[in-house]
Amino acid sequence: MKYITFKNGDQMPIIGLGTWKSKPGEVYNAVLWALEAGYRHIDCAAIYDNEKEVGKAFEKAFTDGLVKREDIFVTSKLWNNSHRFEDVVPALKKTLQDLRLDYLDLYLIHWPIAFKNGVGFAQTREEFYTYQDVPLRQTWAGMEEAHKQGLARHIGMSNFNVSKLEEVFKNAEIKPEMNQIELHPFLVQKKLVEFCKSHGMLVTAYSPLGSGDRATSIKKENEPSLLGHEVVNAIAEKHGVSAAQVLIAFSIHRDIAIIPKSTNQGRIKENLSSVDVVLDPEDMERLLNIGEEFRFIDGRFFTGSKSPYSLSDLWEK
Ligand code: A2P
Repeated sequence: MKYITFKNGDQMPIIGLGTWKSKPGEVYNAVLWALEAGYRHIDCAAIYDNEKEVGKAFEKAFTDGLVKREDIFVTSKLWNNSHRFEDVVPALKKTLQDLRLDYLDLYLIHWPIAFKNGVGFAQTREEFYTYQDVPLRQTWAGMEEAHKQGLARHIGMSNFNVSKLEEVFKNAEIKPEMNQIELHPFLVQKKLVEFCKSHGMLVTAYSPLGSGDRATSIKKENEPSLLGHEVVNAIAEKHGVSAAQVLIAFSIHRDIAIIPKSTNQGRIKENLSSVDVVLDPEDMERLLNIGEEFRFIDGRFFTGSKSPYSLSDLWEK
């Protein structure tokens, strides 16, 4: 396994198992298959609505002696409805209870977007519009408190652009250590990645395979295919590997952690073995300049006439 390293020397395995969209009844096996295959990094979130089942898998793995708690790196994320200072630690404690753990390796603010308390994922579009005005510095103070209480060894965020990161850095007592963002050849985000690295932050790539299993309600029409792209496939053929392995190796070559989701045992193994795929500098150049730009998770469900948020506010211009 390869790792990326935090400032205090803690290491995070560069490939983790993604669990967004992993269905109840499937994620238990997926986590156990991943741990058996050698994964030591599992990416979770409260809003994925499957942390209880992931927790059962952890307990089984610990009981059977497959892994020890300290052998694995577990990430989870604070949902938008718990951004007030006093809500952060209780939300994290709920996640820990569900995951059957007593600390997380990494806790992230999921989105720079604050809902009112109790609003989960939108059942109706109106529900998305029940926002509240919580400054990011207040949420970050809650994250710092979680770290001080020993509940999260590292803290960071997901879906933050440069200006939102700057806002947090300005007031932070503990500097953010991770930004988890959508990254793949259609969205290489050079400026944002550079900003993170130059501020001592690590980066994790989500939706690295294009998240083709998203609900149709959050898909756009005629989305381009990453796994089917001719450049990706030409490089895959050249090295005798799969398109997914090329996409995963692409991120590893940028020193960016990556969390491909799978609930299929064969693909879980295949994805982990991407760590051994060596891309040539010209392969990287071709992938970095693939000539197609596309954001699969554009957050437009957080915007709308009644929302205080807009797409131009969320992403880099
Ligand atoms: P499955 O879970 O059936 O393996 P992302 O990580 O970008 O969200 O993408 C997840 C999607 O990619 C899921 O539909 C997942 O399906 C699929 N997937 C995961 N690994 C591979 C692979 N090695 N080859 C092809 N598709 C994959």
